[in-house]
Amino acid sequence: MPRITVNGEIIEVPDGRTILQALDDVGLLMNGVDIPHYCWHPKLSIDGSCRLCLVEVEGIPKLQIACNTSVQEGMAIRTDTERVRKAREGVMELLLVNHPLDCPICDQAGECKLQDYAYEYGVEASRTREPRRALKKNVDLGSTIKFDQERCILCRRCVRFCSEIPGTGELRVFNRGDASVIDVHPDFPLENDYSMNVADICPVGALTTQDFRFKIRVWFLEDAPGICTGCSNGCNVHIGVANNKVYRYVPRRNDDVNDTWICDSGRMSYKQIGGGARLKEAGVRGEAGRLENTGYEAAVREAAKRLRSMIEEHGADSVVVLASAHATNEDLFTLRRLSDGLGAGADGVAVVQGKSDALLIQADKAANAAGARALGFGPAGPVLDRIRDGRAKAAIVLGHDLLDESHLGGTEALEGLDLLIVLDVQQSALHKVADVVIPVRHAAEKYGTLTNHAGRVQRVEPAVEPAWEAWSDGEVLTLMGQALGLEGFEDGYDPAKISEWMSERVSAFAGVHLRVVGDQGRPLPGERA
Ligand code: SF4
Ligand code: SF4
Ligand code: FES
Repeated sequence: MPRITVNGEIIEVPDGRTILQALDDVGLLMNGVDIPHYCWHPKLSIDGSCRLCLVEVEGIPKLQIACNTSVQEGMAIRTDTERVRKAREGVMELLLVNHPLDCPICDQAGECKLQDYAYEYGVEASRTREPRRALKKNVDLGSTIKFDQERCILCRRCVRFCSEIPGTGELRVFNRGDASVIDVHPDFPLENDYSMNVADICPVGALTTQDFRFKIRVWFLEDAPGICTGCSNGCNVHIGVANNKVYRYVPRRNDDVNDTWICDSGRMSYKQIGGGARLKEAGVRGEAGRLENTGYEAAVREAAKRLRSMIEEHGADSVVVLASAHATNEDLFTLRRLSDGLGAGADGVAVVQGKSDALLIQADKAANAAGARALGFGPAGPVLDRIRDGRAKAAIVLGHDLLDESHLGGTEALEGLDLLIVLDVQQSALHKVADVVIPVRHAAEKYGTLTNHAGRVQRVEPAVEPAWEAWSDGEVLTLMGQALGLEGFEDGYDPAKISEWMSERVSAFAGVHLRVVGDQGRPLPGERA
């Protein structure tokens, strides 16, 4: 570990790294040591083109770029001298020579690095009289990204992203020298599973997403930490919220899970949180065969009452339980205890399968498939067999993934059940055949943990409140457990306590629970995740 001096402070940094990388590794970059930079990005190759990261290195006459100067034992760096400041002002003046200065109508305003550094290092008036370059504006690069070529500062982050991360290489530099521009070939648009990350890494307003642009000014948004629930990778996201509404997901850095990226499909999954497809009313099917809105708590109690009569009539093994891999570990631990307490005939979890790749996207299309399995929920097959062959008379079903083609493929088989209790976030064909329907919270609306495909347990917490009555699955199941008089449900549902209890009772979770996982998650014992 070389020892270097930065602005008079001695710090130890990893060997074989450049100054920016080393400061990033020890968490000091832009967090105690401010070195402005455009072209450098922690997860891309070094370009060294923008020249904004100039610093003084003792013993070297010329200023050096921090992104491509390796640290050495005893190196002394100054990032805050008058000479460094003058150099940055010069770089900023050049970058602004052709910039359209359309901040008032630019959707990047508020999170634009050109705007930020122009305030800090910019000169107040332009010294050029020549007209600025007129280039392409408001161009579709593909189905997800809009491009404003005039705003581009040619940092080439987007070019390196496309060639180095998805490996698709759509964005290129065309022409040379001061005629250089970023673009795509007309017959090779920007279309890959990670395309929208280019808007996150573009330091200016040249690349913006079709989905988010002009929806809201970013200074009205608050970022809440969250986990994408689109697949079992569990990518970390910032949930952009204003007035209890979710406007976007952007990646939240976690080097053990998703680096600084998320896939496009996961990014768009924020729409499920407040969308029109949410299940909003609890209902109980009455004698006329219609779902009647009985109120939330009454529906939960009615579910327990009907379940008790089914058990009295047909025995506990006529009940089957199907977990949702979208629910939290704490929800599922509560379901596990309910299933065991009832003596259910079978339980399992239905997980929808889909596309995967070698980067982030996992085949399990739910955030907590690994957690469900660690809590002893096996494949859905034995549960679905009991439903199909009539051995099951009553079913408690979380979510609607059992309707996928790979499982039941529809609701027909469920019509043979005498009692179907459904807890779900979204509307589906299930609630048309269910006897009791109970809306529950999305992972972005509750406390708990999710276990990703690699065994990393990650925390979720409420970013928004549902505008209708909805509890977490664990709360609903706890009330049902209480109404059925089962042991272990007396104390109600406190996710932090349930999480600790789970870590004491389930060896797979030993020592890992809500209070200790932190904002970057923690691997289960024996996992490297
Ligand atoms: S479009 Fe953005 S990311 Fe790409 S080179 Fe221009 S400024 Fe950099
Ligand atoms: S890879 Fe999976 S978890 Fe990550 S953003 Fe995409 S869908 Fe979400
Ligand atoms: S960040 Fe160092 S040259 Fe661009």
